[in-house]
Amino acid sequence: MLIYYRRKAIKYWQLLEGIEYLQKYPIPFVEQKQINMSEQIYIFDTTLRDGEQTPGSKLNMEEKIEIARHLEQLGVDIIEAGFPVSSPGDFEAVMEISKAVKTSTICGLSRAVKNDIEVAAQALKYAKRPRIHTGIGTSDIHIQYKLRSTREEILERAVGCVKYAKKFVEDVEFYAEDAGRTDNEYLARVIEAVIKAGATVVNIPDTTGYCLPDMYGAKIKYLMENVPNIHKAIISAHCHNDLGLATANSISAIQNGARQIECTINGIGERAGNTSLEEVVMVMRQHPNLKLDTHINTRLLCPISKMVSDLMHMPVQPNKAVVGANAFAHSSGIHQDGVIKCRESYEIIDPAEVGADGTMIVLTARSGRAALLHRMQRLGYDYCKDDLKVIYEQFLKVADSKKEVEDNDLHELAKFFEGQVRVAA
Ligand code: KIV
Ligand code: ZN
Repeated sequence: MLIYYRRKAIKYWQLLEGIEYLQKYPIPFVEQKQINMSEQIYIFDTTLRDGEQTPGSKLNMEEKIEIARHLEQLGVDIIEAGFPVSSPGDFEAVMEISKAVKTSTICGLSRAVKNDIEVAAQALKYAKRPRIHTGIGTSDIHIQYKLRSTREEILERAVGCVKYAKKFVEDVEFYAEDAGRTDNEYLARVIEAVIKAGATVVNIPDTTGYCLPDMYGAKIKYLMENVPNIHKAIISAHCHNDLGLATANSISAIQNGARQIECTINGIGERAGNTSLEEVVMVMRQHPNLKLDTHINTRLLCPISKMVSDLMHMPVQPNKAVVGANAFAHSSGIHQDGVIKCRESYEIIDPAEVGADGTMIVLTARSGRAALLHRMQRLGYDYCKDDLKVIYEQFLKVADSKKEVEDNDLHELAKFFEGQVRVAA
C-alpha cells in the first residue's frame, strides 16, 4: 500500500550526476570550430529564390528583407534574393535587399536572355557585391524538348549570356540546368567555354534530384580533371531533394572539389525541396576530418529555421535533422537513461550549438524511472528509490492513458504522492 512509504532527502550530487560524468569523460569527437585549419566552403542561400518557389510560401517585401538580414547575420556568403525579371515584386525585393545587406554578396537570377540580364543588373545596382546568376539547360532532354535547339547552339548561348552579364558585373555565375543528367563530356566543353568567357562560378545543378551521391561526386571530379581552366572558377553544387539525396549529393560534391553549396533554410524549394543549409553546415562541423568548413554561426540555425517556417507558412517536420522539434528529443527508456548519464550517448550535436532549446526527455509509457526522476528533479521534487518505485507505478497509469506525460501531470502526481504520505503520517 502507498501509505507505508516515507519521503527521504536526495543528495544534491545526484542532480549533478550527468554533468559530473561529462566532466570526467570529455568527448573528443564533438570538438568544434575547425575553420582555421579547414578550407572554406561558400554558402549560397537561395531561400528567397528557389525556396520561394515552394507553393503557398509567397513572402511580402518586408518579410524578404527581414529574412535577408537574418541570413547575413547567420554568415551566409551569397544571398540569391530573387529572379528580377519574373515580376515587379521580385525586382523590387532584389533592389531593396541590395540596399539593406552590407556584407553578403547579393545575387539575382536570369535566363540566358539579354533582357533578363539587363533587368537583373538594374535590380542589383545598389548591391555592394553584386552577382548575376545566368544560364541555360544543357541536358539532351532540355535541349531537344524545352529549348528545341542543338548542343552547339546552346554552347553559343551559354558563352553569350556570360559575356553579356560581364558587361554589368564582375561576378558572374553560370548554371548548366539539369547538369545532373547532362553528358559529362559535353558539360565539360560548356564549362570550359563559359569560364573562358569570364564566369567566376560554375553551377552544376542536379535540377531533378536524380543523381546518386557517387554519380554526382564523379561528375564534379570529372570536371576538375577535364576542364583545363577549372582553377579559374569555383564549382558550385545545387541539388534538389526528389530522392532525399540533396544533402548527401552536396557533401559528395565538396569532397570532390566543389567549393560552394547552394541551399535553403529548412530545405524548402521546388517539389521535394533543395539541399538544406543547416544539414550541410552541421555535416562539416561534426566531421572536422573533412577539413572543410563554413562561416555560418550555427547558434542562429534554429532561430532562423523557425522564422522562415513561420513567415513562409511551411511547418518543419518534427523529425527534420538539426532543426526539427524532435531533433533532440528522447523517448525510449534506454535512450533516456543513456542521455541522462551522458548526453553524447545518444546525441552527436550539442543542442546549444545550433540554438535549440536543449535535450528533451519526452515522458511516455516507454520511459523508465531514471527519466521520471530526472524530470521530477527539474521540477523541484526529490524522491528516494522506494518512493520513486511507487510514484513510477502511478506514472505508468497516467502514461498509458495519454501520448505524452506533461509537467502539469507530474505536478498532479507529486500532489497525489504528498497526499498519500500525509495520510500515512
Ligand atoms: O535547379 C536548378 O537548376 C536551378 C537553376 C535555375 C540554378 O534552380
Ligand atoms: Zn534549383
